[in-house]
Amino acid sequence: MVSQATSQNQLFGESVSISGTTYETDTMTNVTPKILEKVGKNLHNRKKHPLNLMRWRIQNFFNDNFLKGRTPVFSVHDDIKPVVTLEQNFDSLLAPADHPSRKPTDSYYVNSSYMLRAHTSAHQRDMMKSGLDAFLLVGDVYRRDEIDATHYPVFHQVEGVRLFSQRELFSNVADPTGLSLFEDGRKTDHKQAIHTMESAKLVEHDMKSSLEKMANHIFGKDIESRWVDAYFPFTHPSWELEIKHQGEWLEVLGCGIMEQEILKSAGVDHKVGWAFGIGLERLAMKLYSIPDIRLFWSEDTGFMSQFDVDDVNTPITYKPISQFPQCSNDISFWLPDGYSENDFYDLVRTIGGDLVEQVSLVDDFCNPKTQRHSHCYRIVYRHMEKTLTQKEVNVIHEAIQQQAADLLGVEIR
Ligand code: PHE
Repeated sequence: MVSQATSQNQLFGESVSISGTTYETDTMTNVTPKILEKVGKNLHNRKKHPLNLMRWRIQNFFNDNFLKGRTPVFSVHDDIKPVVTLEQNFDSLLAPADHPSRKPTDSYYVNSSYMLRAHTSAHQRDMMKSGLDAFLLVGDVYRRDEIDATHYPVFHQVEGVRLFSQRELFSNVADPTGLSLFEDGRKTDHKQAIHTMESAKLVEHDMKSSLEKMANHIFGKDIESRWVDAYFPFTHPSWELEIKHQGEWLEVLGCGIMEQEILKSAGVDHKVGWAFGIGLERLAMKLYSIPDIRLFWSEDTGFMSQFDVDDVNTPITYKPISQFPQCSNDISFWLPDGYSENDFYDLVRTIGGDLVEQVSLVDDFCNPKTQRHSHCYRIVYRHMEKTLTQKEVNVIHEAIQQQAADLLGVEIR
């Protein structure tokens, strides 16, 4: 069997160039040319793109509601390159050594030292270190995942961070004497060991009220929302905010009180802070009724023209340009040792590109005698702007079969 590492080096050779910087490849390299095509597209900065409208709704909320004199409190950073070190993406955020997100099957590695960020949180520590107390960071993030209408290996997030000094946090308390940010205490579900109850509660209150207001600003005054306990290695306590949208609870963002150890490593251990991260695609899909995540990458004017508004708060309901027919083909193969589904999904993306609407596992069979496993996947093909012929689909499907055999070592049945 040809190993995954060797096969990827076959894609790039000794080195790979990403937005002007050259990186040596090694056994960890698992980025693909298809994925690298997305680097630098910066859809969040493209005027009148729905992701740009979403990001402005969020940014305007912070600009309008948090001012020091006439200057916005939150600075905005939307042009930070997505290649980060593993240390930035994981260690700087206290991700445990065995955290599932570190697996090569879940993230895109440039090599053993660099990766495409899996979240905008990768920049938290460095932004704080550079002296920022309140910032928003907008950017593209990359994750290996399944293929369907709501998952795409590239999506966009807004990260927000706000720090407080003792004076700032207690500024609204009538008599702050005796109050302090820190203690040598005990970690509970409600606070970190080093935080006093009063500092944890005030940070929590400031964060929750700010983010609830933001949700109202985006989705309207009358929406119902709720806080759900969550876990992130870099915040404690942590929550997710959900809103009721068309009768269903929808997760909007993850957030929490920043782990004090991260502030310490950034040289701001005399402050406390909160952070949140919000994914733009899922929200834009709900807000504008966009049915398929691939549409964000469409260059079709029939898509783009629907978002050509001057006021970012204009309500828009996307009208499908036309639903072209689907074409579905199955592929079955015996699995080699060390097989990973995400390797197969990437291969399908590399060859099929955005013609692939969905890949689903329809059969998982184990031969009782030989104990060999086989998988059958159904690949649904659909062009977003025209009708695909069976012949066109066959060419792609056969290429997928061939490459799966050559590169992943599967045995087609
Ligand atoms: N980075 C987290 C994610 O991608 C979101 C998050 C950001 C959570 C900041 C807490 C604080 O899921």
